[in-house]
Amino acid sequence: MQRTFVAIKPDAVQRGLIGEIMQRFEKKGFKIIGLKIIQLDRKTAEKHYEEHIGKPFFEGLVKFITSGPIVAMVLEGINAVEVVRKFMGATNPANADHGTIRADFAHTMERNIVHGSDSYENAEREIAIFFDEKELIPGWTRDLEGRFIQLN
Ligand code: RTP
Ligand code: MG
Repeated sequence: MQRTFVAIKPDAVQRGLIGEIMQRFEKKGFKIIGLKIIQLDRKTAEKHYEEHIGKPFFEGLVKFITSGPIVAMVLEGINAVEVVRKFMGATNPANADHGTIRADFAHTMERNIVHGSDSYENAEREIAIFFDEKELIPGWTRDLEGRFIQLN
């Protein structure tokens, strides 16, 4: 089992797509083990996107990602980092495979709906930016026969 960091970006929140995007991850079988809505300040945005500091698109990226609330999530699943990236689609939605989140909901690189960690190391680094370990519930299981909650 592996965990990864996912964020529903401000454009998706503004467009009312939180539920739909979370549902896709849920239906795919990922477990949500951490969840919060948060508006990033510049310092946190720079920390999150530190590999891009100095690039021509960096200022626009920071302005966008701090422009409104995001939904920050930690997802757990087998090969979660790689599978989430494939499920999201290419950075530029114009090149994203049919059926991916970016292909279905976006058409420009600057407003591409969702973020997912690109490596195991970055997943752990990004999770630590957004969550305390005690805010996460790793390894919970689904109990389809209702034994989880004892009613009597
Ligand atoms: P993200 O980190 O947001 O999940 O996106 P990504 O891994 O697919 O792409 P990354 O290379 O990390 O770039 C981060 C975000 O910066 C914007 N970008 N613009 N104009 C450009 O050349 C350019 N390159 C990247 C995109 O919004 C991308 O999501
Ligand atoms: Mg990235």
